[in-house]
Amino acid sequence: MHKIVINNSKIYMKNLINENIFSNLTTNIYDYVFVITEETVFNIYQDHEIFHKGFKVVNIKQNQPIKTLETSQIIINELSNLGCTRKSLIIGFGGGVIMDFSGFIASIYMRGIDHIFIPTTLLGMVDAAIGGKTGVNTKFSKNLIGTFKNPEYIYIDSIFLNSLNKKDMIDGFAEIIKYGLIKDKDLFFESVKNFKTCINHKNSKILDNLIKKCCKHKIDIVKQDQFEKNHRMILNFGHTIGHALEKCYNYEHLTHGQAVYYGMNAINFISWKLNYITDNQFKIIDDFIKQVPLFDIGDLKVEEVMKNLKFDKKQTWNKNQFILLNDLGSCFITNKVDNAIVKQSLDFIIN
Ligand SMILES: NC(=O)c1ccc[n+]([C@@H]2O[C@H](COP(=O)([O-])OP(=O)(O)OC[C@H]3O[C@@H](n4cnc5c(N)ncnc54)[C@H](O)[C@@H]3O)[C@@H](O)[C@H]2O)c1
Ligand SMILES: [Zn+2]
Repeated sequence: MHKIVINNSKIYMKNLINENIFSNLTTNIYDYVFVITEETVFNIYQDHEIFHKGFKVVNIKQNQPIKTLETSQIIINELSNLGCTRKSLIIGFGGGVIMDFSGFIASIYMRGIDHIFIPTTLLGMVDAAIGGKTGVNTKFSKNLIGTFKNPEYIYIDSIFLNSLNKKDMIDGFAEIIKYGLIKDKDLFFESVKNFKTCINHKNSKILDNLIKKCCKHKIDIVKQDQFEKNHRMILNFGHTIGHALEKCYNYEHLTHGQAVYYGMNAINFISWKLNYITDNQFKIIDDFIKQVPLFDIGDLKVEEVMKNLKFDKKQTWNKNQFILLNDLGSCFITNKVDNAIVKQSLDFIIN
């Protein structure tokens, strides 16, 4: 088992089943262990040992929106009824939604109790489980309410990806490409080369290696700026425009990962037009993103996306922050991008 340490959190990779990670959880450390999961994941993994250790299971039903304050209230009541105390542990077992939600609950229940993450999606493994951001949505915005709290441990086992569909694999892969573009040229080329193999789960050694590199990058970035005062913002590469696109579809149809591919290509365009990257670098990114199977956004109106950009949560002093590329594997933060060029970039990705 590979171990990476971040601040007080530890990430363990691979072979959870063989390592018997749950054996000493209840002895004298925690009075009860609660597994917060959701129905899809529970139905697939109900025979997994996590559900046969005597832990109390909180299984959120399929028709219930998970990341809301209403659901938080319901689950907090359920935890109270089941006898959850300050000495209890929460395990979040599921995708990024369960990571954000269970982390949020663990951070507010009795002013915070210990929690562990076991991500079951690619996006959960390379992104959502790491860095201590928790959150729920409101009708105004995604993740508008949230806290910072790091889990005690994160256990990553790509075996869970065997049941994940291709679309969710492609979504998670957007974040792998992101780390490559902002921080690690070799990772970018390695990811592009192995994209097809990985999304079909054909070679999990290659994928494990990519996951491990992404975890290290996220840890490294978060370590420098846990509370996103500055440097951590580079993780929003492609996300400012991506979020605006997601909002155009009311967070339906166009998934987060797909929006991020489009957002990254818009930024690719802006970085190129402003002469920060060469024609060739622009083309390498564009060629890759154009062959990723994505939802068609041809019906979008540029003005509508621009309107959503104005309401971006990360806007400061009425200006959008953009993360631009100045090389493959290198980026910088700026709020000096004219609306005219942003519009051109939207025209470019929409048409
Ligand atoms: N906190 C952070 O730093 C951070 C970073 C990135 C994303 N996020 C959050 O992550 C969320 C998105 O995460 P996601 O893409 O994992 O979505 P998700 O949790 O909704 O999972 C995607 C789909 O996969 C299913 N699923 C999960 N595991 C599975 C498995 N092993 N096999 C088959 N199906 C499985 C789920 O039921 C769901 O239908 C968003 O809410 C986003 O805000 C948080
Ligand atoms: Zn993202």
